[in-house]
Amino acid sequence: MTIALSKGRIYKDTLPLLAQAGIEPVDDPETSRKLILDTNHPDVKVVVIRATDVPTYVQYGAADVGVSGKDVLMEHGGEGIYEPLDLRIARCRLMVAGHPGATQRAGRLRVATKFVNTTRRYYAEQGRQVEIIKLYGSMELAPLVGLADCIVDLVDTGNTLRANGLEPLEHIADISSRLIVNKASMKMKSARVKALIQSMDTAVSQAA
Ligand code: ADP
Ligand code: PRP
Ligand code: MG
Repeated sequence: MTIALSKGRIYKDTLPLLAQAGIEPVDDPETSRKLILDTNHPDVKVVVIRATDVPTYVQYGAADVGVSGKDVLMEHGGEGIYEPLDLRIARCRLMVAGHPGATQRAGRLRVATKFVNTTRRYYAEQGRQVEIIKLYGSMELAPLVGLADCIVDLVDTGNTLRANGLEPLEHIADISSRLIVNKASMKMKSARVKALIQSMDTAVSQAA
């Protein structure tokens, strides 16, 4: 069984949940350059990839299971993937943000984001015409330099927005990370996968 994780907060917060399922990686991705980590089980590997690539690996069965933020799953679309468990880690909100009143002005808004699909869907539901500018990071900069009227980005403490003179303006979705499973693996490796879901579910309840 192969588990796809991304470095940083998802790896750090998933580790104790995996430990509850008896799975412990042998190497540490923060210090090792290895992309495939061995675990205490010879037949369980952990692949360490970019957060946005996790649904893709699971969709194509390159990983049987993975942990992915709901923001990333919404953007990916979820094709070929089951989402059986909310792990309640890496919690934040997907929001429209900008200078106060930025979205009040008439006409077509310019919105900078890395969440292009989700943003398009959100404004289509609002019936508002927008021009979406795709960025890959540091979205908070866009309104400061006049690249966009507002941004669609993740907000946790609000510190990043505040530090740049911006405010949260509209709530789009509550975000947390999910255990995701390849649809074929759910059938073909049903015993292994279901045992993992069960153990992680118990660990999540205990953490609450
Ligand atoms: P990336 O390099 O793609 O930004 P992160 O580890 O920062 O990777 O983000 C992984 C996931 O963690 C995101 O998809 C989101 O669900 C969640 N996340 C991102 N930023 C925060 C934050 N500031 N607080 C809590 N959760 C966050
Ligand atoms: C995330 C996100 C925001 C920030 C929000 O960035 O992209 O910029 O956190 O958190 P806050 O509301 O608590 O300030 P991250 O820390 O993941 O840095 P990154 O640019 O490396 O993704
Ligand atoms: Mg980040």
